[in-house]
Amino acid sequence: MAVLDIVKVGHPVLKQTAEEVPFVSKKIRRLLDDMAETMYKADGVGLAAPQVNESKRLVVIDIGQGLIELVNPVIVSGEGEQVGPEGCLSIPDVFGDVKRFNKVEVQALNRNNKKIKIVGEGLLARALQHEIDHLNGILFIEKIKDTAESTVKESIVTDKAE
Ligand code: NI
Repeated sequence: MAVLDIVKVGHPVLKQTAEEVPFVSKKIRRLLDDMAETMYKADGVGLAAPQVNESKRLVVIDIGQGLIELVNPVIVSGEGEQVGPEGCLSIPDVFGDVKRFNKVEVQALNRNNKKIKIVGEGLLARALQHEIDHLNGILFIEKIKDTAESTVKESIVTDKAE
């Protein structure tokens, strides 16, 4: 396994729609392994392949309940609403409140090419939506509830105080 470089905001790959993965090959499994190692090294709760300059529909998430690997994830339903602070490994030192579904159901493939379904609530639902947004070229800063710069700064202060 290897720790990969995380690309930062401004890199064009972050704005691209990532490619479907037609088959989870050994090479893709290795990329999933490297993405997980990269996420843990960076102390993140989620990472999408475009963040390591691979325009592929791959996501890893660990909110402290074990590693989740998703290939071609799709949100098939969402319900409720939550507003909470987000950050992104590709956008250092920026945090802001984003409105998301409180609960989502996601379909994907696992690393063995099997169809899986995941239901996430709260933080897991937030992570799923944030990472799947990455696959569609969407960054959380485009969704910050109040785009006023002062709000972003307040969120940074709040985050550091916690
Ligand atoms: Ni992110």
